[in-house]
Amino acid sequence: MQIDSRIEKVLFDKETLETKIKELANWVNLEYKSSENLIIVGLLKGCLPFLAQLIKDVNIDFIMDFMITSSYEGTAKSSGNVKIILDMANNIENKDVLIVEDIIDTARTMSKVVSILKSRNPKSIRVLTLLNKPSNRVVDFEPDKFGFEIKKTDFVVGFGFDWEEKMRQLPYIGILKANKK
Ligand code: PRP
Repeated sequence: MQIDSRIEKVLFDKETLETKIKELANWVNLEYKSSENLIIVGLLKGCLPFLAQLIKDVNIDFIMDFMITSSYEGTAKSSGNVKIILDMANNIENKDVLIVEDIIDTARTMSKVVSILKSRNPKSIRVLTLLNKPSNRVVDFEPDKFGFEIKKTDFVVGFGFDWEEKMRQLPYIGILKANKK
């Protein structure tokens, strides 16, 4: 496969992602096999390739919903200012909520989203993220399940991750060359 010239190194190729995401879909199937009211909430925009791949192997009924939050505003550094730009459409009271995210980094975004959604009295709330960067936490938070752990210094692009809002469509996750950061 042709690798984008701005990529220094591929961290997770297409096949590695597909295998891991199948495993995560199986986790969803097991965790929610008795649930009658599952709502999967994707945090746009980064979750999109992950969520699209994940749901192909989810074999239980669920409702899909989305939220848009923003913290990075197109740069590599977190501004620390998490905004809810678009709220989800469904009422989650007494429902099982699974939030699907591309990465938990400082955890500012997820801790804010979870606290907002908890106040709406769901039956349960869990977080599934493709990538986890525990060494960069500003807020104490752990997801219920993650795909891969990455290092603090890994600035990732592709498969939903952007560089200045671009490069989200790459079918793999890579590290940008130093002169692009
Ligand atoms: C990114 C990412 C997470 C969040 C993680 O979103 O998708 O939502 O930052 O960072 P944190 O743990 O430090 O809060 P971003 O605001 O860049 O939006 P995007 O999904 O549109 O890329």
